[in-house]
Amino acid sequence: MSYSQYLPRRMRRLRRTEGLRVMVAENQLTAADLIYPVFVLPGSNQRESVPSMPGVERLSTDLLVEAAKEAYELGIRSLALFPVTPIEKKSLCASEAFNADAIAQTAIRTLKAELPEMMLISDVALDPFTSHGQDGLIDEYGYVMNDETVEILIKQALSHAEAGVDIVAPSDMMDGRIGAIRDALEEAGFVHTCIMAYAAKYASAYYGPFRDAVGSAANIKGGNKKTYQMDPANSDEAMTEIALDLEEGADMVMVKPGMPYLDIVRRCKSELAVPTFAYQVSGEYAMHVAAFDNGWLNREQVILESLLAFKRAGADGILTYFAPEAAHLLQNR
Ligand code: PBG
Repeated sequence: MSYSQYLPRRMRRLRRTEGLRVMVAENQLTAADLIYPVFVLPGSNQRESVPSMPGVERLSTDLLVEAAKEAYELGIRSLALFPVTPIEKKSLCASEAFNADAIAQTAIRTLKAELPEMMLISDVALDPFTSHGQDGLIDEYGYVMNDETVEILIKQALSHAEAGVDIVAPSDMMDGRIGAIRDALEEAGFVHTCIMAYAAKYASAYYGPFRDAVGSAANIKGGNKKTYQMDPANSDEAMTEIALDLEEGADMVMVKPGMPYLDIVRRCKSELAVPTFAYQVSGEYAMHVAAFDNGWLNREQVILESLLAFKRAGADGILTYFAPEAAHLLQNR
């Protein structure tokens, strides 16, 4: 008689068939979990590829409307908008950030008119609009000034709300900006405009391709954002950042980057139990695609596995450049 006859727990029993596996699956990825980040160009009928993000294109608003409709058909319910500001519109005071007729504000109005059911998330930060590529206004030493920057962020958030955005997403990491923006929105009557705070945003080297995509890489010239974004060494600090943003009025919070920071996603969900989002950032996208294009990883399987990992870590939604492709894969599974 073999020892195995008496094995009471055989973990493999529940793995034998597809039917059993789906029955006991603890997490599920759906298209509604996916938030699609898009780069918006000025003008019309404009389309540009982003060299460091193969497969990602910057689109003018008219083409973006088409892409948004396709994404909606696939079950995607939200877009995150990132304007690509022409260099001549950038300045030290970042005033293009709150121009009612700038790219983001125009895209919000157009998309809301054409596809009102799609939730729009707008980035609130000054890096696409400053001549130096930092997320805020700088003093004579190049230090990003907190309170002066928050004043501009308020104007930027209000201009997005006026254009009809559903969710403003401050990604700048200034102190006190969530409370200041919430107050301003309430005072102006935008009580339904939600705030998704980039609450735990790390000073990460994984943002490189994004800075190429929005054209802030050349401006920042090897500089970094370590005086305002978080140190990758820290985890408790992230809980404090998130708790502060919630106290100040954030409706949802985000952890960024994504895969290297899933421990923070899990802590946020377990300890604070709030709507938690994570951003699979440009560098994560680029490194996946590089491996796919070399034939080193299976594209379809790895895309879905990488996104399911966010669900397992506790994320309620994932910003990912793979959104349409993943939604397509989910539909055809
Ligand atoms: C700007 C912003 C960045 C990203 C989103 N909003 C870049 C940065 O902080 O330098 C990065 C997104 C990505 O890498 O995909 N505040």
